[in-house]
Amino acid sequence: MTSQSPRDINASRDIESPVIAKPSETASNIANAQNAKKLFIKTYGCQMNVYDSERMADVLAPIGYMAVDTPDDADLVVLNTCHIREKAAEKVYSELGRVRKMKETKESEGRGEMTVAVAGCVAQAEGEEIMRRAPVVDMVLGPQTYHKLPEMIARVARKQGNVLETEFDTLEKFDELPTTRDPKGFAAFLTIQEGCDKFCTFCVVPYTRGAEVSRPVAQIVAEARDLAKKGVREITLIGQNVNAYMADAPDGSGEEWGLGDLIKHVAKIGGIERLRFTTSHPRDMDDDLIETIGNEPKLMPYLHLPIQAGSDKVLRDMNRGHTYEHYKNLIAKIRAARPDIALSGDFIVGFPGETDLDFEQTMKCVEEIGYGSSFSFKYSIRPGTPGASMPRQVPEEVKSERLKRLQDLLYTQQRNFNHSLIGRTLDILVEGIGRDGGQLFGRSPYLQGTHFDGSDDLIGQVVPVTITGAGRNSLTGDLA
Ligand code: SAH
Ligand code: SF4
Ligand code: F3S
Repeated sequence: MTSQSPRDINASRDIESPVIAKPSETASNIANAQNAKKLFIKTYGCQMNVYDSERMADVLAPIGYMAVDTPDDADLVVLNTCHIREKAAEKVYSELGRVRKMKETKESEGRGEMTVAVAGCVAQAEGEEIMRRAPVVDMVLGPQTYHKLPEMIARVARKQGNVLETEFDTLEKFDELPTTRDPKGFAAFLTIQEGCDKFCTFCVVPYTRGAEVSRPVAQIVAEARDLAKKGVREITLIGQNVNAYMADAPDGSGEEWGLGDLIKHVAKIGGIERLRFTTSHPRDMDDDLIETIGNEPKLMPYLHLPIQAGSDKVLRDMNRGHTYEHYKNLIAKIRAARPDIALSGDFIVGFPGETDLDFEQTMKCVEEIGYGSSFSFKYSIRPGTPGASMPRQVPEEVKSERLKRLQDLLYTQQRNFNHSLIGRTLDILVEGIGRDGGQLFGRSPYLQGTHFDGSDDLIGQVVPVTITGAGRNSLTGDLA
């Protein structure tokens, strides 16, 4: 399940695929196509950024911006960036080089000005450096400031110099963003929680996204209802640590709701047929959530629960706050509650101090747990995180060897899991037409892209498909 579709919840870990935001209906009303200003958004990073890009387009629609799918002719180019690994962060500067050339060509040919904005986690982490290294950039905006975009654009237009906004006020952002959306298909992300208080020693997220903040239930329900009304059938509740979700019960009882309560509530919304949530942390996996995983039929039997490493010593140095034993017991409980569940995980090899023996513990963990899909990375030093200054950094070639061995095992498991589905009939949410004529494309409960023959009027429906073929990333089948 490592396709590059932007709505694939985890493939986006390292996506290069642009997410093209579409104009909302409001925009089409306000700005007719000829007068509309053109907006191009390119998205890097995780599902949070995918969601944010869509919301930026929603904020810009009422002031006349319509999305286009190439940057050359755009009036506003937004790069929504990711800082998670060095490679991801460096991409921004090469992309800005290309954008600068396009801007120069556009302006020299008299096709109007191009405003350039850098948003997302690189913007938050190194905003001033971006301004210094890339003078082409007019605006730098951190992930908690998107609601201020129209005002920032006005400031740039008034030639008040470059604009840098990196304040943290997550709740203000959510209060200001419209609760109506313009979904792009039948499956949508919905942010319920942002930020992270865990401070794993390898990770930049607590610094780029700020503290854990949960959105109020009423706001989430309003957004989910709006999505359902517009044809969305599947919602993935997203956040850096969704299972840390905690908010006041909407009935004014003074009770606190966790993720389990929220899922059961959102599942009652008419039209919503499937729910997912990601990403979870093993420390916040409580019994109520496990019970919900076991009993809520709309929740898909697929759980992303990263462990990162199998050695307790490495887990401790990473500040993960749990042992391998804790994780293994959790998985046993979850499997007892929902026997058809498939697991996905994240792994890091070559964290400082990781010995051959430690790495073997990660291999043993994967063998014992068994994953249906996974995301695995070489440790990347991130400036400002505790891991960066730890002694005993692991040489690059050792990291590469370990990653290869780990991925051989993980990919074999993924292939075997997909093969085990042959002969079974799975519910597929049909998202569109497939590559070949007459073919449809959809997603299985386990998120694999699935191709089968069928007519266009099934698009947007959940249909039973008997699986006849399986590769590492996708399935094929016949309508049952
Ligand atoms: N909140 C999620 C993870 C968000 S980051 C969680 O705790 O599971 C997504 C993944 O990127 C992480 O799970 C980790 O595997 C990887 N990652 C984060 N920082 C990294 C780094 N410095 N080097 C390599 N991989 C990293
Ligand atoms: Fe990063 Fe750890 Fe927070 Fe996940 S839990 S976002 S890995 S600090
Ligand atoms: Fe990247 Fe920020 Fe997401 S660093 S992984 S875009 S939270």
